[in-house]
Amino acid sequence: MSRAGAELRIMFSPGRVQLVQEEVVVPGLRVLVTGATGLLGRAVCREFQNNGWLVIGTGYKRARPRLLRCDLTDEDAVRGLLHEYKPDVIVHCAAERRPDVVERHTEAAVNLNVHATSTLAKEAAACGAFFLYISTDYVFDGRNPPYGEDDSPNPLNVYGRSKLEGERETLRHCPGAVVLRVPVLFGEVESVTESAVTSLWLKVQEATESCTLDHCQQRFPTDARDVAAVCRKLSERARQDPSIRGIFHFSAKEQMTKYEMAVAIAQAFNLPSNHLIPLTEQPAASALRPVNSRLNCSRLELLNLSVEPRPFTSAITDCLWPFTPDKRWRQTVFH
Ligand SMILES: NC(=O)c1ccc[n+]([C@@H]2O[C@H](COP(=O)([O-])OP(=O)(O)OC[C@H]3O[C@@H](n4cnc5c(N)ncnc54)[C@H](OP(=O)(O)O)[C@@H]3O)[C@@H](O)[C@H]2O)c1
Repeated sequence: MSRAGAELRIMFSPGRVQLVQEEVVVPGLRVLVTGATGLLGRAVCREFQNNGWLVIGTGYKRARPRLLRCDLTDEDAVRGLLHEYKPDVIVHCAAERRPDVVERHTEAAVNLNVHATSTLAKEAAACGAFFLYISTDYVFDGRNPPYGEDDSPNPLNVYGRSKLEGERETLRHCPGAVVLRVPVLFGEVESVTESAVTSLWLKVQEATESCTLDHCQQRFPTDARDVAAVCRKLSERARQDPSIRGIFHFSAKEQMTKYEMAVAIAQAFNLPSNHLIPLTEQPAASALRPVNSRLNCSRLELLNLSVEPRPFTSAITDCLWPFTPDKRWRQTVFH
């Protein structure tokens, strides 16, 4: 898996980013990670970096000063980026993934989730890079779980439709690509509100007031670090085996509602949970969500490309301990 090459360094100058080749010989393949400032992108960068890959991460609003800033909805910028960098692998994590935001700002979300994906897929095919597109269980309606890779999608909200459209653009323009569908994620967050799972920390801590939580929609909270490990395994295998293409599913196995996640968090930190009230009716959210879009992950498992998902309690404790009052001073800055 190693290759000698000139190391690429990112140089910053006002208003523009330059990639500068240096005469440093380093082993490793190049991976370009979009959405590298986001929850999953950060984990993906770390996973590849820890395994000897040269990583170029791109972000947008949070990119500077450490990452490459590239607006993926700007086709010329994307072309320029890939032309300069010539990655072996592209892991496309950037997306607008908040269903309610997608409903309100549909055009901008479609530009990123669909059109930018289309551009990246075309350019990946043109430069011979392996393209890995991160998608979601929200492409399913949640009425008939578990869902295999070949089951018919039927998204209930605009977010799910835009991600499905992104999948189709990916496979249309880059037939050797992989689409990896994952459920709700959590991980090392910069702020607890960054993930729907770690946000529950705020509810758990509001012990003075009773607080209702959805106990209707079944979820499979998955650690971004496990998804990142799957992305690396898929990328390494796909570079050697062209039959690794098409759609794959990865998910943790523990089924929980938000209420159950919050109770598990409270128990993990020895905090009270009797103020948490399960809500057994569908919440009147602006964007509909599937009730149970459990993913069947057997394709990945049969090919030995899966990882054993971390148990929820230990993984969430790992992610939330920096937010406990006595540990706040040790909080890490993740990008
Ligand atoms: N989080 C989940 O629960 C979940 C569940 C299932 C699937 N997924 C999928 O997993 C992937 C990663 O999600 P995530 O949770 O890591 O997302 P996230 O934390 O919200 O990060 C989104 C990323 O997209 C970047 N971005 C936004 N607009 C951009 C633009 N115009 N040009 C370039 N980059 C732009 C952001 O950059 P800046 O912040 O720097 O602007 C950020 O890095 C997405 O494809 C999502 O659909 C996520």
